Amino acid sequence: MRRRTAPDSFDPAAVRPWNDRISGLGFGGDYNPEQWPERVRLEDLELMREAGVNLLSVAIFAWATIEPREGELEWGWLDDTMDRLHDAGIRVALATATASPPPWLTRKHPEILPRMADGTVMHQGGRQSYAVTHPVHREYALRMATRMAERYKSHPALALWHVDNEIGCHVPRDYSDAAAAAFREWLRARYGTVENLNEAWGTAFWSQRYGSFDDVLPPLVAPTFANPTQQLDFDRFSSDALLDYYRDLRDALRAITPHVPTTTNLMASSHTKGMDYFTWAPELDVVANDHYTVAANPDRHVELAFSADLSRGIAGGDPWILMEHSTSAVNWQPRNRSKLPGELLRNSLQHVARGADSVMFFQWRASAAGAEKYHSAMVPHAGTDTDVWRDVVNLGRALRALGEVRGSRVRSRAAMVVDWPSWWGAELDAHPTQALRYMDQVQAWYAALWRLGVTVDLVPPGADLDGYGLVVLPTTYLVTDADAANVAAAAERGATVAITYFSGVVDSRDHVRLGGYPGAFRDLLGARTEEFFPLLQGETVRVEGKVVGGTATADLWTEKTHVADGTEVVATYDDGALRGWPAITRRPVGAHGSAWYAATRLDEAGLVALAAHLVDEAGVGPDVAAPPGVEVVRRWSDDGTTSWLFAINHTESEAMLGSGDAPVQGTELLTDTGVAGTLRVPAGAVRVVRTG
Ligand code: GAL
Repeated sequence: MRRRTAPDSFDPAAVRPWNDRISGLGFGGDYNPEQWPERVRLEDLELMREAGVNLLSVAIFAWATIEPREGELEWGWLDDTMDRLHDAGIRVALATATASPPPWLTRKHPEILPRMADGTVMHQGGRQSYAVTHPVHREYALRMATRMAERYKSHPALALWHVDNEIGCHVPRDYSDAAAAAFREWLRARYGTVENLNEAWGTAFWSQRYGSFDDVLPPLVAPTFANPTQQLDFDRFSSDALLDYYRDLRDALRAITPHVPTTTNLMASSHTKGMDYFTWAPELDVVANDHYTVAANPDRHVELAFSADLSRGIAGGDPWILMEHSTSAVNWQPRNRSKLPGELLRNSLQHVARGADSVMFFQWRASAAGAEKYHSAMVPHAGTDTDVWRDVVNLGRALRALGEVRGSRVRSRAAMVVDWPSWWGAELDAHPTQALRYMDQVQAWYAALWRLGVTVDLVPPGADLDGYGLVVLPTTYLVTDADAANVAAAAERGATVAITYFSGVVDSRDHVRLGGYPGAFRDLLGARTEEFFPLLQGETVRVEGKVVGGTATADLWTEKTHVADGTEVVATYDDGALRGWPAITRRPVGAHGSAWYAATRLDEAGLVALAAHLVDEAGVGPDVAAPPGVEVVRRWSDDGTTSWLFAINHTESEAMLGSGDAPVQGTELLTDTGVAGTLRVPAGAVRVVRTG
């Protein structure tokens, strides 16, 4: 895709930090004053002072309010908002106002509307109804972003640019003609010649050979399975196209305000498959993330921790901004659960513990009208005599007490690979089983390590793995030779590397690596699978071995695996078609390393037992033991002299942390009390101890 506004003179060193005029941690949310009369806007300022708000995202969905008719601009309300917020000491993450085109634009240019794979047009009336690749939309969006930058470039409240909003949230894949044209351009750049594309896509199969790039389409609804590499490339292209949209808008802003940092709010979590955020990270001046817990998930606080760790991983370990979460219920799940007392604080501080330097919400004040009126907010419909408001004020107080953690970092000796191409590839159709969900496996391993109190860094497969004692690769289906070598090198250096089923099976073109699975890791593991044996729905097998705690149950997947000399079989199938065959293997690597293969999906107890064994072997266990359900994470100052130990009690009983050989000592910041050896964490409470 073409680059439009590349300010050649841009100097990254001149970009100021987003929080250079905020003391301590950021606290606030999305602020939409355009929904309210003057009287309420004035009250907002009072309440923001009371809560200690210091950062707000403004004008995210304001395009139609600013420009109700083409070219007629109404800035007054936004000028007032910016001035008043500044007077109140509040800084602004100012949006480009492009997140939803105004009705006049889609009426005038219906060609900018996005399309689904079956050709259905996604019309105006909700939000985000635009094709990111459409040149007409791009022109208008750039104009809007430029106007915002021109108008507020010198405004003292401006701290950060917030480009669009959750780019790709509702339309991660667009199948419009504009997208098809951009896809062809992307393929030309990737492959050069159509013969290279044919080779990569394996088009000798099913008469799919292309004579020209002009014949190529996105993977539209077809009579049967679309070409898998076409689908995979469309995933890659779509992620790139969404990023290209961000980049174009960012460059327009940079050209006018080169010193103001730019970001967009990501949605890194277990359910955002559309965008490969590791490839987005280098384009963001600071990583910002939105996270909402899913009511139906009883382990929602574990998934929250995963999202926070993923945000930190995307940020390369740097502190990041929690740009949105909810004070209580959302309104977009089938059944929306309100948060219980203490939950808002626990959720918020889980994010801070895992690297967030700001806690923000959707939204400041609950709307009275519109599609999100039943979504919780910092100021609820019922006003300030409410638990939600009291919790918000209390959270503001807690964040002020924790101001000193700002800029500190989490350190971890365990890494787990998260890989979007593997996510896309592993779930393509016409596979050994349609029941395999990439994220299930990632979540299961993450949860096992969480239960063991091990903080993990979530990294892409090509990350620098130096310094990690444990590296886990759950179902890393698609790997390049270079990434496979990177993983093998970690084991050579002494790490314990654990790889699970359906990993390393294909190359980046989704071509099977021949000679036995898991092709890319066969040598490292000293294991060769001759055939997959997926299990039927409800079918289970017993797995025997000390490493799984004696006997465990497995489901979903088994494999007929042979081991090479020197590879140990540490667990076997005890029944089923593969009775007696290896289920888990271990190969010693180098002087101290090892490479483990888990060829099946273990139940929770078996997986926790296996993970505990690996944590022990790798020596990456927690330094402070905690009872089940009590989350302990540490942030460190850069020089390593001070740490802040966060203890988050998700249980209904009081917990005591710290014992004779591992005492907790220091100052507890939320209660401002000394801790001398033992830390008491009341049921449902959070404690943060500065040590050193
Ligand atoms: C986010 C979005 C917000 C709001 C929120 C509700 O996806 O960025 O504008 O819709 O969800 O949970």
